[in-house]
Amino acid sequence: MNLSEEVILITGAAQGLGEAMAIACARAGAAVVVADINEEGARKVVADIQRGGGRALALSLDVANADSVNASVAAASEEFGFVSVLVNNAMFARYGPIEEIEAEVVDRMLAVGLKGILLMCQAVVPGMRRRKHGVILNLSSVVSLAGVAYSSAYAALKGGTDALTRALASELGSDGIRVNSIAPSAIPSEMSRRTMDASGWEERRRRTPMAVIGTPENVSDAVMFLASSQGKFISGVTLPVDGGFSMAALIPGVDLATVQRSRR
Ligand SMILES: NC(=O)c1ccc[n+]([C@@H]2O[C@H](COP(=O)([O-])OP(=O)(O)OC[C@H]3O[C@@H](n4cnc5c(N)ncnc54)[C@H](O)[C@@H]3O)[C@@H](O)[C@H]2O)c1
Repeated sequence: MNLSEEVILITGAAQGLGEAMAIACARAGAAVVVADINEEGARKVVADIQRGGGRALALSLDVANADSVNASVAAASEEFGFVSVLVNNAMFARYGPIEEIEAEVVDRMLAVGLKGILLMCQAVVPGMRRRKHGVILNLSSVVSLAGVAYSSAYAALKGGTDALTRALASELGSDGIRVNSIAPSAIPSEMSRRTMDASGWEERRRRTPMAVIGTPENVSDAVMFLASSQGKFISGVTLPVDGGFSMAALIPGVDLATVQRSRR
């Protein structure tokens, strides 16, 4: 995968999936902007990339704040000339029964996970239009594709993310800008490790047709493919990166022993 012509700004890249994407994209030759509300974490990721010979810039960014967003895109463009790929990855997520989700938590989730994507797109689209080239990738989730209990606020904003992807893909396609969503299942990261215990991971593995838990690198591979020229005729889709989990989530429990019993 050759991304040496691209400047890729990844939000929320100080840890987790965003960090893995930053490292993978830099290895593929891209200049990478590691932008996060956790500036110290972003600097560590950039130091790792630069030690390996890659090109990277750390930025302090709050995606929910328009001034911060505009300043970050301006700083990235000043350093590398332009932003050709935006990965909207930053997230603040909480889960729980519908009665227990606090209004302030919902406000923050929507501000980071949905308004933040809109603000970032507003900031990068003018430059992408001028260059007639751009890729926007929005991190969605399998909760947008299948009903997952205790995820109501998170599911609402990821469903909104996919709708936003389709609207923008329609709006921007004629300017050479592609917009897609990537929908991972549970992937080990700081966020998901906080949310699930060992039995939860085992249950996810068991319900996944490929019978494995995915890795941050699996998600990075999808990001690189859609960012690259190999993905150049793909726009407006939500790509599950889930070993078949979302496709099969509603039909669990049919195993070989059951089938063999039914044949007797
Ligand atoms: N890990 C999973 O299992 C999983 C599954 C499906 C989808 N996703 C999605 O992938 C993305 C990354 O998830 P993760 O598990 O790596 O999460 P994470 O919580 O480990 O990392 C999120 C990053 O976002 C940053 N951030 C939070 N608020 C911010 C703000 N206002 N501005 C800028 N940065 C901010 C955090 O500092 C952190 O570095 C999210 O969009 C998430 O919804 C993750």
